[in-house]
Amino acid sequence: MERRDFLKLSGIGVVLVSDVGRVASAAAKMMPDDFYFVQMSDTHWGFNLPKVNPDFAGTLKKAIAQANSLAIHPDFIVFTGDLTHDTDDDKIRRRRLIEFKHIIKALKVKNIHLMPGEHDAAVDNGKVFKEIIGPTHYTFTHKGVNFIALDNVSDPGGSLGDQQLNWLNGQLKKLDKEKSRIVVLCHRPLFVLYDAWDWETRDGDKAIDMLQPYKNVTVFYGHIHQENHHMTDHIAHHAAHGLMYPLPTPGSQPNLAPLPWDPAHPYNNLGFRGVEAKAAPVDYAINEYPISKS
Ligand SMILES: [Fe+2]
Repeated sequence: MERRDFLKLSGIGVVLVSDVGRVASAAAKMMPDDFYFVQMSDTHWGFNLPKVNPDFAGTLKKAIAQANSLAIHPDFIVFTGDLTHDTDDDKIRRRRLIEFKHIIKALKVKNIHLMPGEHDAAVDNGKVFKEIIGPTHYTFTHKGVNFIALDNVSDPGGSLGDQQLNWLNGQLKKLDKEKSRIVVLCHRPLFVLYDAWDWETRDGDKAIDMLQPYKNVTVFYGHIHQENHHMTDHIAHHAAHGLMYPLPTPGSQPNLAPLPWDPAHPYNNLGFRGVEAKAAPVDYAINEYPISKS
């Protein structure tokens, strides 16, 4: 990769990096409490329109091969939803989720955290997802960072719901407002990115209000199939590329529809990211990995 693209986002010390060599040198400087994780999103397994992605069966596998050969071995991988493409048929949804689980067994990293998107879960309120994959919201910690996975998709209206918000409140009460490092993972944006395309969480403002008193909060999400970086006060929200088809920038065309495949630029705007989490000072260096042709 020749392109160097560094962007310092104000206030939170996030550096976006797209230079493998620099990431490798950054790895050499990692402290014991630092770690690296990968975010993949919107793999839409089961999608099968060649005009949109002629390699619909191979793109996820390419991403897995690339992740397996990263210069920095990630501690874990998160998939932020839309693992599968939507279907009204429970049997097909079940089959696609089982196939997805099988495909990702090729990842060398075995510490994997899976989350639903509305394509996986909205039709049946997450019933099949829970059967095949597991809980739709949960927490885990890694090297002192508190990860909170939220489900803003099982409700077809795109809400977290009072029950989950109460659960979130209970989780946050255990944490220190000044010292705790919190990373929220979810599918939809928690803030209103573009209402006309349903790029929001109906009650996401309530979650953001709960997170607001905490000094170190960063959100990684999917859903919009493109990179996006946004601040709500001191909280950074980072959307990842998808791995099946890109979507247009908010409001750039009348209707929401996948961007067509460009034969001159295959896999354009498809990819995943690595995140170097640094403990002191708290910092998340993001490296975007486009899918390569080979
Ligand atoms: Fe999606």
